[in-house]
Amino acid sequence: MAFSKRTVRNIPISGATVLVRADYNVPLSGGKISDGLRIQASIPTLQYLLKHAGKIVIISHLGRPKGRDSSLSLEPIAVRLEKLLGKSVTFVDDCIGDKVVQAVKKAPKGSVVLLENLRFHAEEEANNREFARRIAKDTGARFFVQDGFGVVHRAHASTEAITQFIPSVAGLLLEKECQTINKAMEKPARPLIAVLGGAKVSDKLQVIERFVDIADKIIIGGAMANTFLAYKGHHMGASMVEENQHKTLDKIYLAAHKKVEGSVEDFIILPTDVSVAKTPSQTATRHNVTLGNVAKGDNALDIGDASIERMIEEVSGAKTVIWNGTMGYATVPAFAHSSARLALELASHPNKTSIIGGGDTADFVLGWGEAENFTHVSTGGGAALDLMAGKKLPGVESLLNA
Ligand code: ADP
Ligand code: 3PG
Ligand code: MG
Repeated sequence: MAFSKRTVRNIPISGATVLVRADYNVPLSGGKISDGLRIQASIPTLQYLLKHAGKIVIISHLGRPKGRDSSLSLEPIAVRLEKLLGKSVTFVDDCIGDKVVQAVKKAPKGSVVLLENLRFHAEEEANNREFARRIAKDTGARFFVQDGFGVVHRAHASTEAITQFIPSVAGLLLEKECQTINKAMEKPARPLIAVLGGAKVSDKLQVIERFVDIADKIIIGGAMANTFLAYKGHHMGASMVEENQHKTLDKIYLAAHKKVEGSVEDFIILPTDVSVAKTPSQTATRHNVTLGNVAKGDNALDIGDASIERMIEEVSGAKTVIWNGTMGYATVPAFAHSSARLALELASHPNKTSIIGGGDTADFVLGWGEAENFTHVSTGGGAALDLMAGKKLPGVESLLNA
């Protein structure tokens, strides 16, 4: 599982100005950062560079603005970085232009400059070469360090085009994400159990297919389980069920039948009961029903209590657990039971390899244990899924080989 790309550790960075692409696409509510995992995770690379390089210039996107939008400014991130790094961070309100040139020139060695949201320029998402060339030129950087794991599945100016203008290597977070996830997928301590939840089968089709190939068992929960159960002919009432997934699920089950000798029901494990309510309101209460007893107006918002016990029993026998997608509508306490039990099970067994991927899932588990309680809480949503699915990531492919 050697990481095949060159990293910050093997380039001559002494004294050099380094441009770092981070993924500071973090949730903001009322201008306040409500989850700092991605910022925290970027610190080791920045500290490494502060020790070994010259000036550090950081770029990132935030949200999906159409043009300049002050509610999506990276300025609050600069304040958080100052706290975490224990030094001042200069914020520049654009990522190209004379202001950038002057700010970097003026910055003393060993200082940190954060540039404004890349996506205030449409050229960023267009993977525009000229825009990338301007960033490289205006920052005067000698090296480009890709450390925004969460965004490397996008081919954008700051993940792909830029690498044509400056020697480009991986940061420590990117390296750790790729190594940890690839190891768990390619050489896991077995049994390997994949726990897959969330909203849609179609979002995660390739990941499910890959796990049919490599996992010892797959546990399905969340609204995704509703789609599987409906496919199996169960009435799901008013639950969220994704339409037109028959062919997809035929394909998954065909592959599963080819792989397992015993019962496929013990390989792809579906809930045997669900917890329902009329609507997912914050004050809703849980009501467990077995399959076959889901009424017309019932909305299955979590796997049921018996299914939770089965899941925990299976997971307790696993050496590696890869979890993506909350097992229920976890932002409502009554339907967070399954996800909470699973998070606690993993957090209280540090000898088990536990890999958590997906934005909502990571947000959820960090409310139930420190990141250190798990082997790896990925900072990637789509990027983690693509890596697990075995897809090539443009922002990694474009870096220099080791
Ligand atoms: P991640 O961001 O970790 O990849 P997803 O976005 O795929 O995870 O899944 C989380 C989403 O799935 C949340 O919005 C959650 O509320 C929704 N969800 C999970 N279970 C259900 C359910 N039974 N009914 C409706 N929505 C659900
Ligand atoms: C993410 O949060 O998944 C990444 O930062 C990428 O953001 P995007 O989905 O807006 O490209
Ligand atoms: Mg999500």
